[in-house]
Amino acid sequence: MEWDFDRVIDRRSSDSIKWGRFRDRDVLPLWVADMDFAVAEPIQEAIEARARHGVFGYAAVPQSLLDAAQEWLARRWDWDVSKSHFVALPAVIPGANFAVRALASRGPVHLTWPQPLYHPLAQVAENQALPATPFPLDSSGQWDLASLDRAIASGANTLLLSNPHNPIGSRFDEAACRALAARIQRHRLWVISDDIHGDILLEKGARHRPLAKLCPEISERVITLISPGKAFNLAGLPFALAVVPCTEMRRQLKSTLRGNVPAGNVVAMAAAEAAYRYGEPWLEAMLDYLRGNLALLEQRIAGMEGITLVRPDATYLAWLDCRGKGWDKPGRVLESFGLGLSDGSEFSAPSGFARLNFGCPRATLEAALERLDHAVASG
Ligand SMILES: Cc1ncc(COP(=O)(O)O)c(C=O)c1O
Repeated sequence: MEWDFDRVIDRRSSDSIKWGRFRDRDVLPLWVADMDFAVAEPIQEAIEARARHGVFGYAAVPQSLLDAAQEWLARRWDWDVSKSHFVALPAVIPGANFAVRALASRGPVHLTWPQPLYHPLAQVAENQALPATPFPLDSSGQWDLASLDRAIASGANTLLLSNPHNPIGSRFDEAACRALAARIQRHRLWVISDDIHGDILLEKGARHRPLAKLCPEISERVITLISPGKAFNLAGLPFALAVVPCTEMRRQLKSTLRGNVPAGNVVAMAAAEAAYRYGEPWLEAMLDYLRGNLALLEQRIAGMEGITLVRPDATYLAWLDCRGKGWDKPGRVLESFGLGLSDGSEFSAPSGFARLNFGCPRATLEAALERLDHAVASG
């Protein structure tokens, strides 16, 4: 089956926040993390079939959806998860907030996370009014363990992770996970690991391995958040699952969710199940397309003086080091050249970085690179 990822779909007149931000200006939006591709046909068909049913009463999470998620994790991530460990969530970020709230109802929570970090995840500390001591990632996007140790020494006991990492696009390999696991065990830390980008690996044939799978000795202290939202482009139809092996914590999380989140969205659940069950061929083709986009980015940025691409292992997000240009806020500079990126400051990065979303048709990326080139040549 062939998919046409080159097709440009007009999103300006839709409800898209990505395209709505610059609706009346000639700015190409490559910021917020959704892709400009239509979903796989089986997902579209499942949504239409559920809509045609016409009755939308309160719904339980279908066992068939949990089966499909369980099979997906076993096949793609080599991770055997008991279905009883799943806790359904309205989306990943609300899930992270509720997971932290559940932990806080059992004892004091002091958060830490590697910085820069996808800001809604870092925002959990402020949302839940909890103390926080972030620690820096090193320049290649790996954990700086000495800094993590200092955060732990200053009282941090709960780690928020984005694995693979947004915004840098790095993956944390087995050695890094083991070094982390040793600290988790020694200091009895809790971890909330957001693995939403786990299916978007840019090396062909590579497979995500979550922390709780790689280090089973700490799995009882890890809450892993998963969702088909990023890989299958379903951000507007959110659905997520927490994998919570600790029985007590699972009970606590469910009780924290009760009354605070809406009943399951039947259309979103139909879409999620179709994604896990039938979406794999589309995903593989889409990943190949992203690899082509990344190759184009690498080739073009290599010729731009003052800009360096921090090559992502995962995600469709490219982290641009613009410090060589002397731009304090590259996001602002590039917007004036018609390119809408996320400035690194949104993720609490040092000044001089920007994040570019290359989950778009090649023609859109080409046009964006023209504008980037023009900005680089102009100042
Ligand atoms: C690391 C990460 N977590 C969570 C989300 C959002 O997930 P959700 O829409 O399910 O809350 C994003 C979206 O960009 C993300 O990059």
